[in-house]
Amino acid sequence: MPRTLHLLPLLLLFLLQRSCLFVQSAIGVNWGTLASHRISPPVVVDLLRQNKIQKVKLFDSNLEFIRALMGSGIEVMVGIPNEVLGSLASSVSVSDAFVAQNISRFMVKGGADIRYIAVGNEPFLTSYQGQFQQYVLPAMANIQQSLTKANLAGYVKLVVPCNADAYQSPSLPSQGAFRADLTQLMTQLLTFLNTNGSPFLVNIYPFLSLYQSSDFPQDYAFFEGSTHPVVDGPNVYYNAFDGNYDTLVAALNKLGFGQMPIAIGEVGWPTEGAPSANLSAARAFNQGLISHVLSNKGTPLRPGVPPVDVYLFSLLDEEQKSVLPGNFERHWGIFSFDGQAKYPLNLGLGNRVLKNAKDVNYMPARWCVANPFKDLDGAVNHINLACDIADCTTLYYGGSCNAIGEKGNISYAFNSYYQLQKQDAKSCDFDGLGMITYLDPSISDCRFLVGVDDVVNAGFRVHSGNFIFWVLGLFWVFVCICNCGSL
Ligand SMILES: *[C@@H]1O[C@H](CO)[C@@H](O)[C@H](O)[C@H]1NC(C)=O
Ligand SMILES: *[C@@H]1O[C@H](CO)[C@@H](O)[C@H](O)[C@H]1NC(C)=O
Ligand SMILES: *[C@@H]1O[C@H](CO)[C@@H](O)[C@H](O)[C@H]1NC(C)=O
Repeated sequence: MPRTLHLLPLLLLFLLQRSCLFVQSAIGVNWGTLASHRISPPVVVDLLRQNKIQKVKLFDSNLEFIRALMGSGIEVMVGIPNEVLGSLASSVSVSDAFVAQNISRFMVKGGADIRYIAVGNEPFLTSYQGQFQQYVLPAMANIQQSLTKANLAGYVKLVVPCNADAYQSPSLPSQGAFRADLTQLMTQLLTFLNTNGSPFLVNIYPFLSLYQSSDFPQDYAFFEGSTHPVVDGPNVYYNAFDGNYDTLVAALNKLGFGQMPIAIGEVGWPTEGAPSANLSAARAFNQGLISHVLSNKGTPLRPGVPPVDVYLFSLLDEEQKSVLPGNFERHWGIFSFDGQAKYPLNLGLGNRVLKNAKDVNYMPARWCVANPFKDLDGAVNHINLACDIADCTTLYYGGSCNAIGEKGNISYAFNSYYQLQKQDAKSCDFDGLGMITYLDPSISDCRFLVGVDDVVNAGFRVHSGNFIFWVLGLFWVFVCICNCGSL
């Protein structure tokens, strides 16, 4: 048989695979910065690579992060905080400067692969009472102009992360519509996204639905089927994610954008800080979600068309986040603050479980605890002060350190504060009630942390070592040239 005939099925297979790749969702992660103990950006990027994560979403254009991502091949979504939208909306020269300083300088060979700019973060949130929404479209128009000038339009796409409170339904997903006060704005936004080939980016949190409503059926938040399915005409919903997603699809339909691709900007489950926030629930939700989207089943209103991208919230715990929504807010990571996997999770990217961060630069193994020989009656004020600044959320109901007793509580608070102060001996004083120990005071699941330092780490040292070598080499060449010249 002629060789060409053999090639045909191969070619078909190739094309088929290509089209499958196109339909298949990509799993990415959110990488936030609201933490005082931060592993260094190169260690985080190595963590992403070890776990074969190809997409990362940032909340600003943190230059250190972007630099660490250079040459990694990882696709990046940078963010623009809501507070900056006003100035970007005010003039093209501001957006020109933004694109020049924070985007185009990285778009070089061996640079960072910035694919998206998230304009604002949930700028239409009801609780903002409209203070940001007027700036969104003018800012997008300016940035788009700046991208065009920089020859990046079409490659770098603008998106707007929306909270699911931008749309609602009186009852069933098929009744979904954007909030009445947003109809005009949404029509303009969708027109813009559609023109530029951008997806609609939405954050969906079944955990919050469960947390906020006592009659929300627990199994409906997960992906294992539900004893309380939602029957919507011919369509039956067995999980909150699909129900929410199709409410958005219906809302898009109503405005004439029924085909607009949807990406999930944030979705996840916290591991502590509320009764339904625990390791097994977080694992069940995230694994269920990943399997669900990678099955390419889609939803009743979009059968066979899963979201284009799904960014898990979050990569790492962030213990400086506000606890206003609840103590769980600091515990969304699939990894703890120091890049250690909290539970087995198959991201569907090639590894069967998560791999831990390597070369984490921990501070010395020492802790601050309550001195057992002191009367601890006066400790309450110290605890309050310590926990105002440092994180003590694990001590509360639903936390991993909730049952360690009164003395344990005091020690935990002392240590949190001491680590936050980078183990400064003075920060373990507490009027003589504190004491430094070299024995790990962790009790079963309750981990007493040792802080990490993001400034120096093994990887960086090697790097600067190379650099010195390089400089010395250059110096030698220079000396040689001078000597040669004087001959
Ligand atoms: C670039 O990004 C940084 C960090 O997000 C920000 O502080 C800075 O204002 C940005 N530069 C411009 C010109 O917008
Ligand atoms: C974890 O959370 C799930 C979901 O809310 C709940 O059903 C389960 O009882 C919790 N497990 C523990 C050990 O608290
Ligand atoms: C420890 O602190 C937590 C949070 O304030 C509290 O719920 C718990 O009852 C305390 N334990 C003891 C024994 O005081």
